[in-house]
Amino acid sequence: DWTSDVFIDATVEELKSRIGGDKVVMGLSGGVDSSVAATLIHKAIGSNLYCVFVDNGLLRKNEFEEVLHSYKDMGLNVIGVDAKQRFYDALEGLTDPEAKRKAIGRVFIEVFDDESNKLEGVKWLGQGTIYPDVIESVSVKGPSATIKSHHNVGGLPDFMKLSVVEPLNTLFKDEVREVGRALEIPETIVGRHPFPGPGLAIRILGDITADKVKTLQEVDYIFIQGLKDHGLYDQVWQAGAILLPIQSVGVMGDERTYERVVALRAVGSVDGMTADWIHLPYEFLGKISNEIINRVKGVNRVVYDISSKPPATIEWE
Ligand code: XMP
Repeated sequence: DWTSDVFIDATVEELKSRIGGDKVVMGLSGGVDSSVAATLIHKAIGSNLYCVFVDNGLLRKNEFEEVLHSYKDMGLNVIGVDAKQRFYDALEGLTDPEAKRKAIGRVFIEVFDDESNKLEGVKWLGQGTIYPDVIESVSVKGPSATIKSHHNVGGLPDFMKLSVVEPLNTLFKDEVREVGRALEIPETIVGRHPFPGPGLAIRILGDITADKVKTLQEVDYIFIQGLKDHGLYDQVWQAGAILLPIQSVGVMGDERTYERVVALRAVGSVDGMTADWIHLPYEFLGKISNEIINRVKGVNRVVYDISSKPPATIEWE
């Protein structure tokens, strides 16, 4: 029978004998998978694991600082890289979802390559690949912005010369969470909703600007914090807000407004392949809508997405 303790002991032993005294470099995303994989490798080889956490400017509000802090608390050897402007520059003027994904993937490789080249004598690349990623290594919408599916984007970067180590590639998400809890990784990381590699870039329909990111971060923060405060976060598989490329008429005091519309999305799912929209309480939705419109400048309308997958997808792009 599978238990997380048996898995951890066996995996750490295996990693020790496979990697020996070599150095491993690994990109962290703040998500469950890469965090659990890094913790296992760290348990096996300690400070020979070098982690890189890139701020692509497309993360949730405060996420980079908070997660970087958690990683340091967990004893990981982690370098935080502020690459926001590099990503914004690469995204400038791009509106097509696949073009945005490709640009993000390309810049991620460049940044990661720059960082790994600063380290001497690295032989391995650690990855948080889980079993479902192995079966469908390229998503329906194209390559995901994790390193694993970047093989088909442009030339091979230097770190691709490294041998790959993927300690979670036989596990499902719920097993990864169980292992994470057994390893005492903070619940804020282990219980975290999935978040796409291209981040908020695929939740801002159309072109990306730093201003739009800021607006969406505020909206998303109110929604996610609201779910947590009302005990709804753990009943939802994934949630987020989408900034729509339209404006609508509203009224504020005696003034006519013409401002942005945001959509809220919350789904239940097992693996993201199919998903149902969640029937969040009307009172909750009403409260969150008011809060968003009152507090986020430039937004005067909130809608709730009631489509399931299929035929809709979870993300809008
Ligand atoms: P869809 O929108 O295809 O999303 O129903 C299914 C799951 O995949 C995530 N997703 C991505 N993850 N890179 C990623 O790493 C991507 O390009 C990407 N596109 C979608 C989405 O958030 C959901 O969990």
